[in-house]
Amino acid sequence: MTEKLTTQDTAVETATEDADAAGRKLDAQRAGARVGLTSDEIIINGGRPLKGRIEVRGAKNLATKAMVAALLGKTPSVLRNVPNISDVRVVAGLLALHGVLITKGDQAGEWRLDPSNVEVAHQADIDAHAGSSRIPILFCGPLLHRLGEAFIPDLGGCRIGDRPIDFHLDALRQFGAVIEKLPSGISLTAPDGLKGANIELPYPSVGATEQVLLTAVLAEGQTELRNAAIEPEIVDLICILQKMGAIISMEPNRVIFIEGVPELRGYDHRAIFDRNEAASWAAAALATKGDIFVGGVEQEEMMTFLNVFRKVGGDFDVHDDGIRFWHPGGELKPVVIETDVHPGFMTDWQQPLVVALTLAQGESTIHETVYENRFGFTDALVKMGADIVVYKEGLHDENRRVKRREFEQAAVITGPVHLRGADIEVPDLRGGFSHLIAALTAEGQSKVTNLGIISRGYENFIEKLHLLGADFVYES
Ligand code: EPU
Repeated sequence: MTEKLTTQDTAVETATEDADAAGRKLDAQRAGARVGLTSDEIIINGGRPLKGRIEVRGAKNLATKAMVAALLGKTPSVLRNVPNISDVRVVAGLLALHGVLITKGDQAGEWRLDPSNVEVAHQADIDAHAGSSRIPILFCGPLLHRLGEAFIPDLGGCRIGDRPIDFHLDALRQFGAVIEKLPSGISLTAPDGLKGANIELPYPSVGATEQVLLTAVLAEGQTELRNAAIEPEIVDLICILQKMGAIISMEPNRVIFIEGVPELRGYDHRAIFDRNEAASWAAAALATKGDIFVGGVEQEEMMTFLNVFRKVGGDFDVHDDGIRFWHPGGELKPVVIETDVHPGFMTDWQQPLVVALTLAQGESTIHETVYENRFGFTDALVKMGADIVVYKEGLHDENRRVKRREFEQAAVITGPVHLRGADIEVPDLRGGFSHLIAALTAEGQSKVTNLGIISRGYENFIEKLHLLGADFVYES
């Protein structure tokens, strides 16, 4: 552990700089300058299969929460396998504002988070982070425990639906928090301390489950959480909290039981791999008729995806150090998918896979049941020649959470089509990656703009495209 990092995002960024990537100059990048591209744009010449090996590091949706958990410890924590993505840098910036000392370790992706001097941050400084991520909402419980107060700026994140925080706020109130809405965020206090509660979530929300965990571990007494999310990233967070001294049991039927303890220590933990990134590269292998070894990936957390990948006509081999995904030749087959909470098919997997489905022989259907607005990315695919019709009527199931509302809930994709290159703009993180895949698959040239969104969740993706033999022009 050597170098101290400042609150500046640029400095924090160096903490996860990939040693392999450092200093590498791409011919493609130099060419980008010549054609006047900004660093937010890429020109892709499609039609070349992606082939080679890339590594996937820790999950965005765990690493950011693990960093928040470090606030709860009396002693420093060490998080390994931290990805170099902008969502991590946003959380690091917020932690630093609250007095957490962040230093980088000797290994790439190793961070030490020292919460010994946690302090109240200036509201104006926190405001500067408004709209940049959804993670700040998870600071509520830890800051209330550490400081007795919290200010949370307005949240950002992908615009893929309303994304309310009512489950979070209801749960915090049950612990005893008092919440005041301010013009640019919310302010919380806990005049009588935080006490264990009996909470039932209306839906197994990932974020609300994390909120309850991060609050209950130091709350006085016991907490029973029913209808909890049980995603692998949640289980990894529970492992972290247990290392810190928490007492948490996962019980059948989505029940999590937490016995509050008076204090926690720091943890030493390697973040679980990013299964969303893994699925994205797997989909890229399939759509480009390529062959990609995705290092750092494990089978168990990918089982649901692997089944669908095989049904569509992709092939894979599971190795100790990763999974190889490839297109074995022949026609791809259509599928019917309903996105769902774990262990169902993740909502984050559908966008990258849709590109491959445009090449399948026949009609595929995707029912999106987690978010109300996650088909916006299909407009660009249609512009590129895809046959995709999006419907406001979803599955006819009485028990469905999103009923017959005015949301685009189902997409019917008819293939095979030949995608043509086009100028397209990235709308959100996963939709953006699907645009990259579409451009890589299409005949001719595509210009993809608004690339910055993709770096929120995909580490060194330009480097990885280069390693996989993509034909592109980019200015770093
Ligand atoms: N919801 C509410 N009220 C709440 C909280 C959630 O109505 O208070 C609704 C949401 O609007 C949504 C559904 O419940 O319709 C599920 O939301 P959830 O809370 O489970 O999602 P999240 O915690 O906001 C995380 C990931 C998402 C991932 C979902 C589902 C992070 C930072 N984000 O979001 O990841 O899609 O769980 O697995 O962990 C991504 O990585 O691109 C991404 C969007």
